[in-house]
Amino acid sequence: MSVDPRMVTLFSYYRDAELRGAGLLMRLLNHIPDPDSQVKLSLHLADETRHAWLWTKRITDIGGEPQQVGDGYQSRIGLRTVPRNLIDLLALTVVVEERAHQRYLDHAARPNVDKDTLDVLHEVTKDEKWHISWIKGKLDELAAEEGGEARVAAAMQKYREIDEQVYGSLLEKEREAFDGALAHAPATS
Ligand SMILES: [Fe+2]
Ligand SMILES: [Fe+2]
Repeated sequence: MSVDPRMVTLFSYYRDAELRGAGLLMRLLNHIPDPDSQVKLSLHLADETRHAWLWTKRITDIGGEPQQVGDGYQSRIGLRTVPRNLIDLLALTVVVEERAHQRYLDHAARPNVDKDTLDVLHEVTKDEKWHISWIKGKLDELAAEEGGEARVAAAMQKYREIDEQVYGSLLEKEREAFDGALAHAPATS
């Protein structure tokens, strides 16, 4: 089987996003000590590391090896801002989760996606809904505190703006790699 290096690279970016998402959750473990959050974080973390494994397996199944990614989604965000408090960490987690969810849905909706890749896309997408909703619930609790609403809104806005710019630059990179198109989409140029 001949390896498509572009797909190995793309899946390595997906894998990197899952691993760094897990790193963010490891940081959250130290910030929300209540038992309910600790239970949810543990399962959430287990999901993200499993997602990273599923992309790793997809890479090796197509004959590739996982690549080290130095300029992936979270690294690019990290160049712009570093979360320093609980509201920032939670807001960034929501934005990162929503991006991952949308990114996988968009990829799955393209034509010509092979069945094995589609299976992984569906599998990793299905956990994201509860990830987003429980972290949002935590943010709502903080928003209910004195002065919390404005701080949560400001953090969400900050991370959404950074996400838009960072994701735009990643899509550009993907288009460069796939001759003006995105993976599994027909070339437009
Ligand atoms: Fe994930
Ligand atoms: Fe997730």
